Amino acid sequence: MHQNPHTNNVHIPVMLSEVIKYVKPQKGERYLDATAGFGGHAKAVLDISGNYSQSVLVDRDMEAVAELKKRFESSGVNVLHKDFLTASKELLEQSRKFDIIVADLGVSSPHLNEVSRGFSFTKDSPLDMRMDQTQEITAWDIVNKSSEEQLADILRRYGEEPRFRQIASLIVENRPINSTKELAALPQKAWGRHSRTHPATRTFQAIRIAVNDELTQIDQALPLWFKLLAPKGRLAIISFHSLEDRIVKQFFASRSGNRYDASLTLLTKHPVAPGPHEIANNPRSRSAKLRVAVKQK
Ligand SMILES: C[S@@+](CC[C@H](N)C(=O)[O-])C[C@H]1O[C@@H](n2cnc3c(N)ncnc32)[C@H](O)[C@@H]1O
Repeated sequence: MHQNPHTNNVHIPVMLSEVIKYVKPQKGERYLDATAGFGGHAKAVLDISGNYSQSVLVDRDMEAVAELKKRFESSGVNVLHKDFLTASKELLEQSRKFDIIVADLGVSSPHLNEVSRGFSFTKDSPLDMRMDQTQEITAWDIVNKSSEEQLADILRRYGEEPRFRQIASLIVENRPINSTKELAALPQKAWGRHSRTHPATRTFQAIRIAVNDELTQIDQALPLWFKLLAPKGRLAIISFHSLEDRIVKQFFASRSGNRYDASLTLLTKHPVAPGPHEIANNPRSRSAKLRVAVKQK
């Protein structure tokens, strides 16, 4: 019997009740989910709004899209297998408008737990880390083909790794590097026992961000989401690390506040974090931050 790889490995939507509380979906509202994943947030919003035919669910991961199609397509909702920057450009060209836009960034639990995707250094697998399995560039390419300077830059900027030079040089010395364990051994060597978190955490975050061009995606999509919002439309973003959250915070700050040309009002003055109960039930939520804003007119 064919077994769905996610049946024992479900994705629990992060801060679902907080998203609903701040976004306050209303009957008939149009919904864009930029990172629909396995549809947890989408289901909760669509159950209330009931506007399937003018709503769009986007994900760049094939398995998520297959699951979304199975779950939602008969309702008439549009499911797109694209990265959210490309999808948002296309929706703008079609002059679409939405009352609610949600982006729950990062990777889903099935991605993290599925060994062959190469996101985790706790299990050995080929160096992949692509969110979109149809993309050509993998973590193997970044690790084995980048120059030492490029690697140092990736580790410093995307991993905020203090020992970026040392790790970049170890990577170059040890190439070819073919598996997650081989890669994880190098930051371990650079740090010895001196790191509080696992020393490979920052290296893996950095390479994953580079493979998926994650910061460009969010940086360039935010102004498009603003344009896609109808007057009084709400934009909710959940981020999982400080680099993403900084981009969201700066974008929200640049369009809000006490100024004559403010076009957004912040519904969350400070980022909202999950409570202790949620963190205990879903450890993946522990670094999440939710920011929500409403378009003024
Ligand atoms: C944290 S999960 C979202 C889970 C979803 N909110 C739910 O309740 O099931 C993040 C999802 O966003 C997708 N994703 C991340 N960055 C993306 C991007 N730039 N474009 C499209 N999808 C993206 C990932 O493939 C993943 O499925």
